[in-house]
Amino acid sequence: MKIFKNLFWKQENTYNVGNIDLENLPVHIAIIMDGNGRWAKKRGLPRTAGHKAGVEALRDIIRTCSRLGIKYLSLYAFSTENWKRPQEEVNGLMQLLVLYLRKEVEELHENHVKINVIGDIQGLPENARQEVEAAVARTENNDGLVVNIALNYGGRAEIIQAVKEISRRAKRNELDIEAIDEEIFSKFLYTKGIPDPDLVIRPSGELRISNFLLWQIAYSEFWFSNIYWPDFTGKNLVEAIIDYQKRDRRYGGVK
Ligand code: IPE
Ligand code: IPE
Ligand code: MG
Repeated sequence: MKIFKNLFWKQENTYNVGNIDLENLPVHIAIIMDGNGRWAKKRGLPRTAGHKAGVEALRDIIRTCSRLGIKYLSLYAFSTENWKRPQEEVNGLMQLLVLYLRKEVEELHENHVKINVIGDIQGLPENARQEVEAAVARTENNDGLVVNIALNYGGRAEIIQAVKEISRRAKRNELDIEAIDEEIFSKFLYTKGIPDPDLVIRPSGELRISNFLLWQIAYSEFWFSNIYWPDFTGKNLVEAIIDYQKRDRRYGGVK
């Protein structure tokens, strides 16, 4: 297991990854981190306590991905629709983002993690945007796991901004409309240069995509679980990967 060699996370990972085929790992895993509110409600706690617990769960998932040698991990943290939530909850989430980055960036950096953001971060509160930009700058030269944080992200908004930019360029005669194909279009998305997700995981029992990576999931494999995100562990992730490895991906062709 040579991929574990360069990584020295502070806590020991005790999960049995023995059944994972290291030759057939998903290159890109995307997770819709859902169920924080219900996790809190079940315990008679405020929703923000659920979000805090959700952040704790994240540590184990990042560590597990990093140790396995997963190349990209995309995390749906805040959608363009989540602004509809009560102001207090939105503020709590933004504050949590700032605290999380302040607290974790150095350890992530030590472990070669590269932080990348997808979404319109200009729409975030000033301090959150600055913290995010600092984290991206701090880790930009790292060659380990790429953690893509989706913030103020919406799949439709992403496609619309791509269409606008393509149109501007076409209007300035910088781009030939007839030459536009899927590959060129992809270059105008937030995920430019990142392969499409192989595996999309949604915990919490919801069976929907909620505007996440609409273009990119055309041929992704899905894995759903009833576990609320704060209870989701590396062990569940391993389970999802093993399940993924049993799938037969045909991309419309035949075997
Ligand atoms: C996911 O948990 C976190 C965000 C959307 C920011 P939720 O807050 O959606 O939790 P539920 O779905 O209400 O349980
Ligand atoms: C999706 O979860 C967004 C994030 C996890 C950030 P939501 O809880 O917002 O989605 P819906 O409302 O259940 O579709
Ligand atoms: Mg939810």
